[in-house]
Amino acid sequence: MMLSIQPFRRDDVPAVKKFTDEEIGTNYYRSEELVDFVKKSQKNGETSSFVLYQGDDVKGVRLSFPQGQWSQGKGGALMADRWPHALSETAYFQSLFIAKDFQRQGWGRQLSNQALAVLKKMGAKGVVCHSWVESPGESSLKALRSLGFVSIARHPFYWREVDYQCPRCGSPCLCTAEEMYYDLKEGEQ
Ligand SMILES: CC(C)(COP(=O)(O)OP(=O)(O)OC[C@H]1O[C@@H](n2cnc3c(N)ncnc32)[C@H](O)[C@@H]1OP(=O)(O)O)[C@@H](O)C(=O)NCCC(=O)NCCS
Repeated sequence: MMLSIQPFRRDDVPAVKKFTDEEIGTNYYRSEELVDFVKKSQKNGETSSFVLYQGDDVKGVRLSFPQGQWSQGKGGALMADRWPHALSETAYFQSLFIAKDFQRQGWGRQLSNQALAVLKKMGAKGVVCHSWVESPGESSLKALRSLGFVSIARHPFYWREVDYQCPRCGSPCLCTAEEMYYDLKEGEQ
C-alpha cells in the first residue's frame, strides 16, 4: 500500500500517540502534549510537523516547531551561545521516527526536508535538535549529519528526568543527546 506525507493535524493525534508509544516508548509523549505540538507547529497558516501514513496507520513522524514557538526540548540542556543564530531565530527539530520496516528508504530525509523548507518559509535562520547518540546503528547521528546538521555539544543522561520507558534503558533513560545545528542561512548572501 502507498505511503503519503501529511501535515500534522489535531485529528492525527490518536494514531500518532499509538505510533510514538510503540516506537519511542510508552508515554514518551502524552496525548495532551501532542495536541499542544499541533498548535506549536503552526505559523502563518502552515505546519512544520509531518506524519507518514500507510492507510490509517502511522509509519513515521517528523515533529518540529518554528522559532519563538518552543523553549526547550525534553531535557533542559542547550548551548545557544555556540550557535550561529540567536535562540529567537532558531527552530527546533523535536523528533524523527520511522517504523523499522520503512527505515533506510529515504522517508526520514523526505519528512525532514519538507520540515526544513516550511521552517525556512516561516523565517527561521537555523534549526537545533538533540540527536539520540545510542540509536540503533547510530542512525540518528548519521541521518542528521547527512542532512547537514553539525555537532554543537554532547549531553550525557539528557532524558534522565523524563518519566517514560526508554526502549534501550527502561526507566530512567540514561541515553546521551548530541545537540546539533543546521544553518538555514549558510551559503546565502
Ligand atoms: C533515524 C531515522 C529517523 C532515519 O530515518 P530513515 O528514513 O531511516 O533515513 P533515510 O532513509 O531518509 O536516510 C537518510 C540518511 O541517514 C543515514 N542513515 C539513516 N539510517 C542509517 C543507519 N541505520 N545506518 C547508517 N546510516 C543511516 C544515511 O546517511 C542515509 O542516507 P543514505 O541512505 O543515502 O545513505 C530512522 O532510522 C529511525 O527512526 N531510527 C530510530 C529512531 C531514531 O534514532 N530517531 C532519531 C531520534 S533523535
